[in-house]
Amino acid sequence: MISKKLTVVSNKKLADGIYEMRLSGADYVVPGSFLEVTVPGFYLNRPFGVGNYEDGEITIYYKVVGNGTDKMTEVSVGTKLNVIYGLGNGFNMERAIRPLLVSGGIGIAPIYYLAKAFAKKGVRPIVVTGFRNASEVVLSNELKEIADLVVCTDDGSMGFNGNPVSAVKALDKEWDYYYACGPMVMMKYLKMYSDKGELSLEARMGCGFGACMGCSIITKSGYKRVCKEGPVFDADEVEL
Ligand SMILES: Cc1cc2nc3c(=O)[nH]c(=O)nc-3n(C[C@H](O)[C@H](O)[C@H](O)COP(=O)(O)OP(=O)(O)OC[C@H]3O[C@@H](n4cnc5c(N)ncnc54)[C@H](O)[C@@H]3O)c2cc1C
Ligand code: FES
Repeated sequence: MISKKLTVVSNKKLADGIYEMRLSGADYVVPGSFLEVTVPGFYLNRPFGVGNYEDGEITIYYKVVGNGTDKMTEVSVGTKLNVIYGLGNGFNMERAIRPLLVSGGIGIAPIYYLAKAFAKKGVRPIVVTGFRNASEVVLSNELKEIADLVVCTDDGSMGFNGNPVSAVKALDKEWDYYYACGPMVMMKYLKMYSDKGELSLEARMGCGFGACMGCSIITKSGYKRVCKEGPVFDADEVEL
């Protein structure tokens, strides 16, 4: 866990309500880990998955859902933000030979970084990304370069007409282990279909580094903290 001031080098809108912020001055972080940003004017930090790391820059992809993320859209280039990064465990990339990556909505953030990490190892993953409609689709051009990509939309306005779990069931390509991040309902149905994978979970967070127990979830081996033992859990371990 590292606490540092990082400099905003870009902060731009990518699609309806979805933004990309690049922060420079960071050390390497593993795919699946997350960070906490102090948004100017807000007491509680906001957690975000790492969407990419390259040459000392961390990228986050964020969806505007409330006052904090709305304020983030106004942060200008050059601003130094307090960031705690290198939080949580990360994905275990060693478990897949033919990886399947599944995301719903803004869950695409850690999945994109993971896809890039597999590509760096010479592995081309299958990626299934779901959005509500075409106006929310992000990172599809980037992912097409490095993965076999299936984009799905709930209203059929782009790609596969349906949710990511239906698209996974309809895949004509083989995979042996999955990595997923998305809304709880997607994770639940994916786990019901197969528990040979890992799920990156979200929870409302207090401290963000293991001290308050506020982010605890129930697992087969008792309560675990999303911020400390997670956010990535074995699918067969969690009860959703
Ligand atoms: C480990 C982790 C990784 C995350 N990664 C990302 C990411 O990569 N991109 C992204 O856009 N968001 C991510 N989130 C969710 C993000 O932290 C919240 O959307 C953000 O904190 C909301 O702040 P706000 O002030 O705008 O909204 P608030 O005013 O705090 O809340 C507005 C609405 O958002 C919901 N909300 C707030 N926090 C969370 C949360 N932690 N999980 C689910 N719903 C929440 C509330 O229930 C409420 O409906 C992540 C959360 C966690 C725990
Ligand atoms: S947020 Fe405090 S223990 Fe996880």
